[in-house]
Formats: sequence, structure tokens, C-alpha cells
Amino acid sequence: MSTFVQSWAKAQAQKSQIHSSKNAPIFFRNLEAELDTLRENQRCLSIHSYPGLGKDMIDFASADMLGLGTSGRMREAFMEELAQNPDWWVSASGPRLTFGNSKYMEDLEHDIAEFHGAETALMAVNGGMANAAIFTAIPRAGDALVYDEYIHATVHDGMKNSLALVKKAFLHNNLDSFRDTLESVRNSQPLIRNGKRCVLIAVEGIYSMDGDVCPLEELVSIAKEIFPDGNAQFVIDEAHSHGVIGPKGAGLVSALGLEKEIAIRMHTLPKAMAAGGAVIMCNNTVRNMLLNFGRNILFSGAPGFPLLAAIRVGYDFLQSGETQQAQDRIKYMVQLFKDKLTSHPVWDAANDAKILRVPLWDQDEQEQRFWTPIVPILTRPNTKHNVYLAFHLQLNGFIAYPVYFPVVPKSAERVRIIFHASNTDEEIEAIAASICAWAEEMLEIDEEGTAGVRVPTAARQAYAMMEKERLNGSA
Ligand SMILES: Cc1ncc(COP(=O)(O)O)c(C=O)c1O
Repeated sequence: MSTFVQSWAKAQAQKSQIHSSKNAPIFFRNLEAELDTLRENQRCLSIHSYPGLGKDMIDFASADMLGLGTSGRMREAFMEELAQNPDWWVSASGPRLTFGNSKYMEDLEHDIAEFHGAETALMAVNGGMANAAIFTAIPRAGDALVYDEYIHATVHDGMKNSLALVKKAFLHNNLDSFRDTLESVRNSQPLIRNGKRCVLIAVEGIYSMDGDVCPLEELVSIAKEIFPDGNAQFVIDEAHSHGVIGPKGAGLVSALGLEKEIAIRMHTLPKAMAAGGAVIMCNNTVRNMLLNFGRNILFSGAPGFPLLAAIRVGYDFLQSGETQQAQDRIKYMVQLFKDKLTSHPVWDAANDAKILRVPLWDQDEQEQRFWTPIVPILTRPNTKHNVYLAFHLQLNGFIAYPVYFPVVPKSAERVRIIFHASNTDEEIEAIAASICAWAEEMLEIDEEGTAGVRVPTAARQAYAMMEKERLNGSA
């Protein structure tokens, strides 16, 4: 039985706490009132784990895309690296600028910068911290921020603390909207138009919820055309492109040979590389700015040795070419999945009825330059279909999660599937068949005209679990 569905059932079974907590201090009652709004909408999140991972449950959700975590290779290499450096401390025991620095970290940064063809690199404890440092330290008063509307939450958090007052989004991956946005900044900001202040443009390599790739070359050439003096520069978040795109997984910028054009690259390393931490690639000017103005670098502890050792061995895997085969398998896996889904007899009807849609597949395969392991399956807008599909998959042994607003726009609810080099052909065929079986059930409900009355089998099971939790009062 799926632990995701159980924990969902338990979370949704929670009764409103505002009345039962009436003797608690107001501080806690106010917090319970906030949580009650989630409880009322069955949106209360909870945590769970998968003891049956790899046996009863097949992973189509983790970020271990190259299979380095699953295979245990990362763990083995990591243990060897620790053994080779017997004097290591667990904690860096200080921020980077005081006690937290080490030769090991400096050598690592040097080698990583070389691998990515960058002038220099700066380690961070994680990607959230790296984005916060970049967006608080780099845009200066009078500068503007322009960002893709689907940019990651941690970039938004960084931008909130930025000195830049002008912040404008452009439509996701839309070149016309990008051009219009840059032109409007140029036209409304005399100091930027005169080349005295700058525009920092934030994009991602592969967008985490959509699995599509940033049209970086085109964006760069539009930015150069509108700002020929070079006062428009890019920050790219390569969290999801790291390890899966480019030579030896070096990322989108390296794949396109744009190393000289992109001012700042942020790579998070717990995903495809199965390590942890993050690294910012930039030049010495930017690095110096981050060290002097990146408040969370100045005031937080530096990455400890275990994290650095994991990053070292992760990069060794990429550098040695050992992960190339896994990287090459992505295209094959996604094509196999697409073929199984779209050749199934239910596909056309389910697609027409908006029960299953994969917008990524609307583009011509011949024109598709990069294949990414993230495939969002969009379900019928403004319904609970995405949750129903996730229940169905989870109860049938596949780990995949529903995604909804505010993580994705309203009406674009989905279940996100992530492929891993470790997923076998049989597993991929099985998840495609399971998705189609669910779509058949949903079409049947449509044909009966019982939508809203009859819920699909897996959802019925989930609701029954929730009722049981309510009756037991264990929630
Ligand atoms: C695009 C993107 N950027 C940044 C982050 C934050 O990285 P970290 O998990 O290392 O804090 C994530 C995390 O999932 C991400 O998907």
C-alpha cells in the first residue's frame, strides 16, 4: 500500500483545530486558523516515505535521474573519498569568510570552474541559498530584473530582497514577450537606456515543472540587440539541466557554447548528480560581489566536508564520462513512454476530452534539440483529476506526484513524471499502461455523465482511508 496515499488520507482527515485548540495561547490558535484554511480545501500537505522503494514502489519522481543514488555507486565513491581524507570535520565550523574555508573547497571550485568552462566558481550549501545570494548581491540600486514567469520559487525569494525596484516577468519561453518586456524596461528607465544601469535576466535551463528547455541562444541575441552596450546580462539556474544536458552533463550553457555570454550560472547538485549543495559559476568580479554582499554567504556556515566530498565524487563521475550512457538513455526512455502512451487506443479520446495532455509533445520531434527526463502529464483543468491520477499511480506501485496552483498556474494541474536511467523498459511500459487504464476509467465516467458523483477506483480507496482515519480519530 502506498504511503503517499495513507499520509494524504491522514492529513485530510484532520478536523478543524481552531475550536479544539481554544485553550491554547493565541499565538498557536492563529497558526491553527491558517492551517484550517488548508484543511478545509483538502490542501494540507504531509510527509511520507517509501520503505518499499525499488521493490513495491517504482520511482518516477525522485531527482536521481542518472541513477547514481539508486545504484549505490555514489555512496561507495563517497565512502572512499572520506577514507582518503581521514582528518575531515563534519562541520565547516564557520562561514566561508572566517573559519569555514579550506584548500579542499578551493581546489574543488577550481576544478568545477574548469569543467564548466567558467572563470571561477563559488560553492553554496544549497540552491536556495545560492539564488538568495545572487539576487540580493548582484542587482544594484537602479538595476532591473527581468524573469521568466515560471522561474523557481527560490529566485523569487532572492528577488524580494533585491535592491532592484523594477521587476518584470515575461511569458514563459516566449520570445515576443521577452522582447516586449526588455523594450518596456529600456523605454521606461532612462539610466538603463543610457547604459548606466543594468538589466539582470533570470531563466532556467530546464524548467522544473514543464520539462522544457530555455531558448537561450534566441534570448541572448534579443538582449544584445536591445542592449548593445552589454548592460543586459543573464543568470541561469541549471538545477535540472545539470548532469542531463551538454557535454558530460555540463549543462545548457555548455551545450550551446554560451559560456562567454552568460554572466552567472547556478547549478544545484542534489538532483542528477546525487550529491547535494550548489555551485555558482561566474567571473572574479561577480564572485567578489557574492563574497562581500551575499548576506547568507557572509552570515551562514560554509558547506561542510561531507557535502564537498559528495560533490567531488559526483563531478568525478561526470568528468570520467561514466554517466554519458545514462544521459543518452533519457531520449530513448521518453520516446518509449511517448510511443506507448500515444499509440494506446484510449489516447486520442482522452486527449480530446482533456483527460490527458502533454504539451511538450506538441512540438515537432525533428526540431527538438534536447530531451529532458521531466514529462508533465496535464489533466483536466480545474478538477481534482491530477490528484486522482496520482492516487491511481501510487496505489498501483508507481511514485509520481500531483502538482497544483500555486506551484503551476491555475488550470494547468498535472502529474509530473521523471525518468531515471535506472527505470527499465518494462517499468516505463507499465506506467504508460497504468495511466491509460486510469484514462479509460475517466472516459467511462464522462460517458455515464456521473462526473462529480462517481470518483475513480483509486480515489474511492483514498477517500475510504480518509474516512477511516476520521472515524478512528487518529488524525
Ligand atoms: C530550479 C531550481 N532552482 C533551485 C532549487 C533549490 O535548490 P536546493 O534544493 O539545492 O536548495 C531547486 C530545487 O528543487 C530548483 O528546482
